[in-house]
Amino acid sequence: MSVFKGEKLNIEIYGTSHAEKIGAKVSGFPKIKIDEENLNSVLKRRCPKNAVFSTKRNEPDEPIFEKGVDNGVIDGDFEVVIYNKDVKSSDYNELYARPRPSHADLVRYLKNGEKDYRGGGEFSARLTAPLCAVGAIAKQYLYQKYGVEILAYLSSVGKVNGKSYKTDEIEIEEIKSCHGDFPSLSNSREMIDEISSVLSAGDSVGGVVECVAFGVPNGVGGSLFEGLEGKISNLVYSIPAVKGVEFGDGFDISKAFGSVANDPIRIENGEIKIVKNSAGGINGGITNGNPITMRVAFRPTPSISKEQYTVDLETMQNVSIKIKGRHDSCVAVRAVPVVECAVAIALLDCILKEKEQ
Ligand SMILES: Cc1cc2nc3c(=O)[nH]c(=O)nc-3n(C[C@H](O)[C@H](O)[C@H](O)COP(=O)(O)O)c2cc1C
Repeated sequence: MSVFKGEKLNIEIYGTSHAEKIGAKVSGFPKIKIDEENLNSVLKRRCPKNAVFSTKRNEPDEPIFEKGVDNGVIDGDFEVVIYNKDVKSSDYNELYARPRPSHADLVRYLKNGEKDYRGGGEFSARLTAPLCAVGAIAKQYLYQKYGVEILAYLSSVGKVNGKSYKTDEIEIEEIKSCHGDFPSLSNSREMIDEISSVLSAGDSVGGVVECVAFGVPNGVGGSLFEGLEGKISNLVYSIPAVKGVEFGDGFDISKAFGSVANDPIRIENGEIKIVKNSAGGINGGITNGNPITMRVAFRPTPSISKEQYTVDLETMQNVSIKIKGRHDSCVAVRAVPVVECAVAIALLDCILKEKEQ
């Protein structure tokens, strides 16, 4: 079980990749009528779509509210359950006691002696399904009550770049329109070709997901430990395979001069405006009224069919493995809605504390 203890929200995500079910127990959530169509559409975006970039594991991911929801209305603590329906544990027979390099297998052994790595257990990205169920409803609440829209897209795959908020003007409608088969704003064909050629070589490839939160009120967050970048990053780093998070111009800002990196402040039509957004909508850990912009780096999938070196923990010998089974070849593709949902949970928790005391 993994627990998020926020300022107001408490979320326990339970289950494993090959268990009968996975789910989330949630407390501290505000009252809301769930838009089921929207919830299902977010979960569907996370589902595998295409054998080139996704696992062939076919899970329908139907959320079932077992507690705390009456006539579609959340009013207090609730639990959402998703049954695993397409489990194939035999794929992992040859991996018994042979940890997959860069997956969580070896650290599971070092921490608690586990040698059975079927489906990655509780470290599997299956657990991002209940995270998305909760995050999708958080997104609904933020939109209905505050007009906040949190939208992500795939900005690069390996060395193939698509549109980025760093170099391009990006409109809300444009991001929404890419939430079909492949979630990039440009160069989708080139990205898919890249994944396809990497897959034929028995390998995998990483990618960058960009996320923009439009309409976040100013004044959310605080100094030091209360800083919003840290609170959002905490949630985003809980997504498996995330190895980097940056806001605004991120690491590039370290190469700029202050005169270029600073965002000028002006009065326009009687209102204070920050007319550039290198800071990514946050100064001093607090939202400044501009969109929050962030980039999330996903590593290449650890499970690849190319030969790799590992150890046999039973015989304590060096061995090599070729991983069979059903794996995503570029996890960043399916991670796009997961990033939106993680950001939504972080923002909702801060907003509930600050605006709804
Ligand atoms: C949407 C998504 C799908 C994933 N699919 C796979 C997969 O099919 N095979 C795999 O080995 N890792 C997959 N991963 C990544 C692993 O879960 C992750 O690398 C592993 O738990 C170790 O965690 P770490 O990379 O954060 O250190 C996926 C991650 C995400 C977000």
